Amino acid sequence: MDYTERERLKKEILPYIKEHLKPSRLEHTLNVTKLAIEMAEQFGADKNKAEIAALLHDMAKYEKRPGVDMNLAHSKIGAEMSKEIFGIEDEEILNAIANHTTGRAGMSTLEKIIFLADAIEPGRHYPGVEEIRRMAETDLDKACIMSLQHTINYVKEHEGWYLHPDSIEAKKYLEEHEWNQKN
Ligand SMILES: [Fe+2]
Ligand SMILES: [Fe+2]
Repeated sequence: MDYTERERLKKEILPYIKEHLKPSRLEHTLNVTKLAIEMAEQFGADKNKAEIAALLHDMAKYEKRPGVDMNLAHSKIGAEMSKEIFGIEDEEILNAIANHTTGRAGMSTLEKIIFLADAIEPGRHYPGVEEIRRMAETDLDKACIMSLQHTINYVKEHEGWYLHPDSIEAKKYLEEHEWNQKN
């Protein structure tokens, strides 16, 4: 993605999200963006892609689709809309948006960054978030595992809630990957 394309995107995306997101969601999005850029610098991912993906990650949060649970689907729909509205074709950016809620097996560094930045930006408050934040300063994979475990526990505590299979697969993949590195 060259400079001109990046500037065009930012110029188009910012007004769009300012118009379509509630103030609290906009604040969250800007927090995620700042953190994702820092993490990209640290872990060697593309800063510009991190910025664009973070700005767009919740763009579909307030969309409505009949019979669709947008709590889960806003990520996939957000990726589709990013393509349609802003002409984003970059698969890395689209995957990072599409998988930010559940994670998935075999996430790229950029996907891990958006997944984690979404979960630990400074506006997030829940038991255990500090531990995940600390881990994310040094180890993306371990921090992702912790965040996924947190989600799994959280869902288990709520009767009738549904754990997305992608989250289980994401965790399993990362754990096997860690094991392989150690052995
Ligand atoms: Fe989201
Ligand atoms: Fe988010």
